[in-house]
Amino acid sequence: MDINLSNKKDKKACVVTFGCQQNEADSEKIKGVLVSMGYGITTEEFLSECSVIIMNTCAIREHAELKAFSRTGQLKHYKKTNKELLIGICGCMVEQEHRAEYIKKSFPYVDFLFGTHSLHKFPEILQNALKTRKRQFLREPEIADARKKINLVEDMPIYRENKFKANVSVMYGCNNFCSYCIVPYVRGRERSRESKNILTEIKELVADGCKDITLLGQNVNSYKSYQDGEYNFTELLTDIEAVEGDYWIRFITSHPKDVPDELIKLMGRSDKLANHFHLPIQSGSNRILSLMNRGYTKEYYFELIDKLRNNVKDISVTTDIIVGFPTETDEDFDETMNIIETVEFDNIFPFIYSKRKNTLAEKMEDDIPKEIKNNRFDRLIKTQNEISLKKNKEYEGKTVRVLVESRYKHADNMPDMQQDKIKMAGRTSTHKLVLFDGNDTQTGAFIDVKINEGRLAFLEGELLNNQ
Ligand code: 5AD
Ligand code: SF4
Repeated sequence: MDINLSNKKDKKACVVTFGCQQNEADSEKIKGVLVSMGYGITTEEFLSECSVIIMNTCAIREHAELKAFSRTGQLKHYKKTNKELLIGICGCMVEQEHRAEYIKKSFPYVDFLFGTHSLHKFPEILQNALKTRKRQFLREPEIADARKKINLVEDMPIYRENKFKANVSVMYGCNNFCSYCIVPYVRGRERSRESKNILTEIKELVADGCKDITLLGQNVNSYKSYQDGEYNFTELLTDIEAVEGDYWIRFITSHPKDVPDELIKLMGRSDKLANHFHLPIQSGSNRILSLMNRGYTKEYYFELIDKLRNNVKDISVTTDIIVGFPTETDEDFDETMNIIETVEFDNIFPFIYSKRKNTLAEKMEDDIPKEIKNNRFDRLIKTQNEISLKKNKEYEGKTVRVLVESRYKHADNMPDMQQDKIKMAGRTSTHKLVLFDGNDTQTGAFIDVKINEGRLAFLEGELLNNQ
């Protein structure tokens, strides 16, 4: 990538990221470009010292958009005190015309906008902004043909803060059009990266000491590299798995309708594939699943969970649930509760339905009153908390392998923990948070921890054999 290096070593830039890991991954590319152009990357506490501020927005629910608007509003006073400051807004929200128009009109101090399809144009946009100081609004038409590699960003530098944990995008976009979901409209049709590029990136990460690699895509199971013939996600995982080294591979997100038996078998026999499957079910009612256009029934989902648990020892399973989808009755919601109680997920991510413009469900009346939505949401959390605690207690007395991530940031708020010791935090292959007394030299290493207590949100343990 051809980026003019200018001498801005003393200049700082901040990228504020909303939303999912795909957005985090895009932000790492934006930061990569900023670093190549000589900016130092800083955090939000130092916004007042920044020369460039980029807001990478999310559109999945209205709440995410409102948050981005309110944060954009707060940027106004930085512009008043720093005339040099450039402010850019990008990401999923900008990919919607009505939102882009609103930002243009309501936030005149925003210097440039670019949507998800224009990410690769960021160096050009920033250079133009520096040169001309004219406002720029870039939204490109979506590329409909997945075989065209256009808009597959391969040559942007990536700035990764963490050396031992990394996200690697393998595919972009989604073809599923779940009726509630805005993703296909703001991220476009599915496009998969060439496997050789993914493998090169992974080999470099592993050689650099990376221990936990998450493959990203809106629907990773639809990965299909046309360049390699009909090469699918399981084949990609098989090739990644063959890269020598001691590391875990994760992937998100999977669609239940696209999980092949070969993938489950591979997970069962692989030491590198992490023992965790995130499998969004969204609802336990077949009627609602059909209205959501999900393409499976709850019976099919049950069978899939059985297959996973029969083939992959000690696998943890998590899910996403939407409550209050249009027309959801008490009976429909009871079926969702029933799924939660029967499957016993390790964790769930519940969301309150939010109407999204242009989606299929937009035409349906958002008819479930707020109090009922909130009440269903609370009931889900309450039941799941009991299940999560029970599941975590099953770890007591067991020894688990943990990748140490950092000091535990909230240790001060835990009066029952010994405050004179350093509390370290790490994750198991099953993605459980583990806390133990340790030290900073362990950061980024795999260690064995004996679990003494399973709590609601984490496992507490002790190091084995003075590691
Ligand atoms: N309203 C509420 N939740 C949504 N999700 C996606 N779209 C919506 C919406 N319109 C949830 C789904 C998805 C997760 C990432 O966000 O559960 O799996
Ligand atoms: Fe949205 Fe459904 Fe695609 Fe997931 S699979 S990104 S929920 S449309």
